Amino acid sequence: MQSFAKLLLLFGLLALASASPVGIQKRGVYKVERVPNPNYTGRNGPRALLKTLRKYRMPIPASVAGAAQQQSEMISKREPKRGKGRGQRQKGQNGGAATTGQAAAAGSAANGTGLVTNTPEANDVEYLSPVTIGGQTLNLDFDSGSSDLWVFNSQLSTAATQGHTIYDPTKSTTFALMQGATFEISYGDGSGAAGNVGTDTVDIGGATVTNQAVEMATAVSRSFVEDTNNNGLLGLAFSTLNTVQPAQQKTFFDNVKDSLAEPVFTADLRAQAAGAYEFGRVDTSKFTGAMTWVPVNTTDGFWQFTSEKFAVDGGTTQTSTAGAQAIADTGTTLLLADPAVAQAYYAQVDGAVDDEQQGGFTFPCDATLPDLQIDVGGTMATVKGTDINFAQVDDQTCFGGLQATTAGLQIYGDIFFKSNFVAFNGGNNTLGFAQHA
Ligand SMILES: *[C@@H]1O[C@H](CO)[C@@H](O)[C@H](O)[C@H]1NC(C)=O
Ligand SMILES: *[C@@H]1O[C@H](CO)[C@@H](O)[C@H](O)[C@H]1NC(C)=O
Ligand SMILES: *[C@@H]1O[C@H](CO)[C@@H](O)[C@H](O)[C@H]1NC(C)=O
Ligand SMILES: *[C@@H]1O[C@H](CO)[C@@H](O)[C@H](O)[C@H]1NC(C)=O
Repeated sequence: MQSFAKLLLLFGLLALASASPVGIQKRGVYKVERVPNPNYTGRNGPRALLKTLRKYRMPIPASVAGAAQQQSEMISKREPKRGKGRGQRQKGQNGGAATTGQAAAAGSAANGTGLVTNTPEANDVEYLSPVTIGGQTLNLDFDSGSSDLWVFNSQLSTAATQGHTIYDPTKSTTFALMQGATFEISYGDGSGAAGNVGTDTVDIGGATVTNQAVEMATAVSRSFVEDTNNNGLLGLAFSTLNTVQPAQQKTFFDNVKDSLAEPVFTADLRAQAAGAYEFGRVDTSKFTGAMTWVPVNTTDGFWQFTSEKFAVDGGTTQTSTAGAQAIADTGTTLLLADPAVAQAYYAQVDGAVDDEQQGGFTFPCDATLPDLQIDVGGTMATVKGTDINFAQVDDQTCFGGLQATTAGLQIYGDIFFKSNFVAFNGGNNTLGFAQHA
């Protein structure tokens, strides 16, 4: 067994001691942590790191674990489904998992494309995009690292929905309840969302799916409640990770892709600026040079590829770990790489240290950061040094957007996307990337 799998198993068991016997298959569906800071004054590196560690059930350093305590309380109109409800969620055994809903898709734009803008929330910690469900528009966090579409809705208490835009299925003429269907996404620390499921018409910039499974939270963790800009998630990983029971549901992209001009969506995420997600075409004006297409390893339901090499500032190409895997994840803020990558990178930054107190690599804010070249499925991609300067910790110290993960699976989050325009091709399961124009 790979060390990653072992770690997942270990942390899964520790974290879910009071919950269900989920196995390693459930990785990646835990994505819901926002780690909001109501008194936000700037990007918070340790919090972003914590968010990522939780999502993937990675070891959380003691120094950043304290902040986790407050996140676990569930706010719910009903009794929180601790214990019992969880026991039934044995998801991820995908052989024979059925998708229902008879979803039908149509590119309502005559040319079969859909475009939405995305706006970075809280200085690029997450990107939100408008989605229309049954005629009601909500800002959702598009997440290529999970596969559930769930929303704040009228079943939640007013305390839980204060400041949020909610979906009200009773006001939609196209809504239908999916009898008996439930979903549950949870983190190792118990935060997350759970509820029931219906179908409705979902429109993203003109790309439309009728009878799309829409998961309606009846319980959400406090961290979500506090993140009032975010009214839910739109999962864009493979449908094999969807958590709806008893019949697993397809993602919006899986439902819409055959009706698109091309079965692709693209992520155009930029530092401190609005970007866009586009469905149905690859806009060549968004990048320079040729796009590189690499094969995606769909085994675990992620947009995953091998990434075993790197170079710092165009120097000698080095091997990190032979056969190492990485995923492209728009729902994660940081770039978590093999420790060899982070160590070699920060060795080139004057004054950089692996600071246990901060939970990761920091450096003097006036340091010049070199570019990083990392392997994406056999071809090197560049992440600009300026995109790696992520957050100010104090007057002089900055937290790196590149951090190390010891859990095996590398996670290339928004820091990667800021430097690279990325296309997700569901027709031939390839990932395309090129430097942003
Ligand atoms: C936000 O800051 C104010 C003023 O410092 C403080 O009173 C309040 O408790 C803070 N809120 C939270 C949630 O930390
Ligand atoms: C599709 O139509 C939209 C709206 O008319 C337009 O902005 C876009 O460029 C078109 N896309 C293609 C691939 O022709
Ligand atoms: C595909 O991913 C699986 C699971 O992460 C891994 O075990 C396998 O080695 C990968 N395959 C290739 C060809 O990299
Ligand atoms: C996948 O599709 C893209 C876009 O249509 C194409 O450029 C690329 O060559 C294809 N890759 C493979 C391996 O078929």
